[in-house]
Amino acid sequence: MIYNKEKKVLYSAIQPTNLMTLGNYLGAIKNWVKLQDEYNCFYAIADLHALTVTQEPADFRAKALSLFAQLIACGIDPDKSLLYFQSHVPAHAELQWVLCCNTYLGEAYRMTQFKDKSQKHAENVNVGLLAYPVLMAADILLYQASLVPVGQDQKQHLEISRDIAIRMNNKYGGIFTVPEPYITVGGARIMSLQNPEAKMSKSDTDVNATVELSDDKDTVIRKFKRAVTDCGAEIVAREDKPGITNLLNIYSETTGKTVAEAEKEFEGKGYGDFKLAVGEAVADKLAPVRAEHARLLKEKSVLSDIIRKNGLETRAAADRTLVKVYKKIGLVPKDNK
Ligand code: TRP
Repeated sequence: MIYNKEKKVLYSAIQPTNLMTLGNYLGAIKNWVKLQDEYNCFYAIADLHALTVTQEPADFRAKALSLFAQLIACGIDPDKSLLYFQSHVPAHAELQWVLCCNTYLGEAYRMTQFKDKSQKHAENVNVGLLAYPVLMAADILLYQASLVPVGQDQKQHLEISRDIAIRMNNKYGGIFTVPEPYITVGGARIMSLQNPEAKMSKSDTDVNATVELSDDKDTVIRKFKRAVTDCGAEIVAREDKPGITNLLNIYSETTGKTVAEAEKEFEGKGYGDFKLAVGEAVADKLAPVRAEHARLLKEKSVLSDIIRKNGLETRAAADRTLVKVYKKIGLVPKDNK
């Protein structure tokens, strides 16, 4: 990472529960790529967070590695940013314990995602599920991050991270930078192709609802041809036209044209032509990403070198904060100084 003292630290992470969808890419990762020039960026594969749900080990490992390569293929530059696996930095789990001792049970129980997940996985409501936001706080606070780009579903977790940081700063004297949410200007929410009222989600069971970044051209186009549209024939972004609005947003995010420009471009055209054009634009955009992803997965030693080097660099950065925290809270330093 090229660390620049003048620039703020920005932190974000993605769970390796699945490979990336077009929604992840356009909604978050494309923005991560842009932010690299403006901030010192730490980007993690949140593999420890993913353990709150039982994972099949071989499949989990393959997905995590593939996602790492996919992020690089998307433009996360290992020379600019620190892309790493959360599990490669023991300080995350270590700081989490300290933060757990400074988080009230009531606060943790109040998290809406904890409530939702406890209902959804009623057979496995583990302690990790409750501590999930505390681990997230540890992620962010370890690197003294000022900014955290998160989606709506993670806002409450960022809020609790801030509360924990402020509480500990008051108790022990400034330890942590208090993080702020990074709000993206523009950047549309990408919705399911089959139900434009719901976010495009990698856990959707309907394969036609989601475009995977690894989908080939034919698959992408087929999925767009099958996309649900709305009544009428006009191609405009409007509240009563969620399907067409979603497709216009996807087209705009993919091509860099504004939604208004896209509306003009397709004025008088039919839904069929429009859906084909969106599919083609997306397929063209994804083709080089797919090719680079495949190349990286084949070049195992290049990937291993990045993983090893970034692990080392991240551990060094994280340890600086951990040593500071341990000292502030009164633990005996390793060198007894
Ligand atoms: N919980 C986040 C998600 O599922 C991923 C995540 C883990 C994260 N640690 C983070 C996001 C720290 C931002 C900052 O999307």
